[in-house]
Amino acid sequence: MQRVDVQLEGRSYPVLVGAGIIGQASSWSPFLGDGLIVIISNEVVAPLYLRGVESALDGRAFRHLVLPDGEETKDTTTWSRVIDFLVAEQAGRDACLIALGGGVIGDLCGFAAATYMRGIRFVQVPTTLLAQVDASVGGKTGVNHPRGKNLIGAFHQPAAVIADTACLRTLPEREFRAGLAEVVKYGAICDARLLAYLERHAAALLRLEPDATSQIVLESVRHKADIVARDEFESGVRATLNFGHSFAHALETLTAYRRYLHGEAVAIGMIVAARLSEQRGLCPPGMAERLASLQQALGLPVRVPGDLSTRDVLECMLLDKKNLAGRRRLILLRGPGDAVVDEASTDAEIARAIDACR
Ligand code: NAD
Ligand code: GLY
Repeated sequence: MQRVDVQLEGRSYPVLVGAGIIGQASSWSPFLGDGLIVIISNEVVAPLYLRGVESALDGRAFRHLVLPDGEETKDTTTWSRVIDFLVAEQAGRDACLIALGGGVIGDLCGFAAATYMRGIRFVQVPTTLLAQVDASVGGKTGVNHPRGKNLIGAFHQPAAVIADTACLRTLPEREFRAGLAEVVKYGAICDARLLAYLERHAAALLRLEPDATSQIVLESVRHKADIVARDEFESGVRATLNFGHSFAHALETLTAYRRYLHGEAVAIGMIVAARLSEQRGLCPPGMAERLASLQQALGLPVRVPGDLSTRDVLECMLLDKKNLAGRRRLILLRGPGDAVVDEASTDAEIARAIDACR
């Protein structure tokens, strides 16, 4: 088992990474506190891993709530259901929630923990690649509003993150690949060596070889922990984690969140952003091509679909909550592993980059 600490003043916490750690009491016990333990999971993950968590609790009493699967669950109605459950179980301020699942359960459970009695302890047990490398670390919690994703939320850091890489074996292959896009993102924005590692180990990763899988989870967690420690509330470097995301959100919105998994949309978005970086002269030619080859090797999409007009993508990007005072705010690259926040790209330049990725 490997440990990475997210260093925050007075609130540092560990991310434990390893195969099979979900069932190890020693991994968990220091982080649960003394109050009631409540496990929040969903109908897909609970049958697979609830027993493992239960065995790690070493006979301690716990309650569990199993929710329906899917992004639709990340809403105020289900948040209210979690709160009702905590009230019914008389959970006190010393209670600890355990989020057992992917990013949906992590965000929802984290938001319940952030808001119940003005904030109680919670532990993340991410079971998807995306949640292990990104969503479970850094304290962004929240639910969706009918008018937009993640519009309701709070920063609330977990007491620990238990990332069991063995869980990835049951993950549908498409979900695993989508999670790989976020790993490519770390390579692109801050770690040229990770990018090269992904290029060398693409086939091994798709075979879920344990060493390669643990390596990329660990490296990603290290980067996320470092970025969060430097900029917890996203006033600076944390924004670089949004590389490719403005384009991705437009693609997801225009296809009503049905065509792409988030990571797939991010994969396309990263190619557009890399192309724009080249066209703006920020980065030498070849970056977009390099990312596209890697992503193709990882089974990720790389082209903007022909049925979405460039004008619609641009308009949709204007609604992105990462924009400031009407200015488009994009993350671009100066080279492999070197990201920059950009507010100077014109609509014409962005349109050209989108068109170049069809
Ligand atoms: P998800 O939670 O919906 O999980 C994907 C699917 O895999 C679901 O059907 C789930 O039940 C299933 N699943 C989970 N673990 C499994 C396992 N081990 N075996 C088999 N099936 C399993 O999706 P996700 O991609 O993990 O997370 C997406 C969510 O994360 C979005 O809501 C997004 O907004 C959020 N997110 C949050 C942050 C953050 O910083 N808080 C960052 C990125 C994404
Ligand atoms: N997923 C982006 C962040 O945590 O900031």
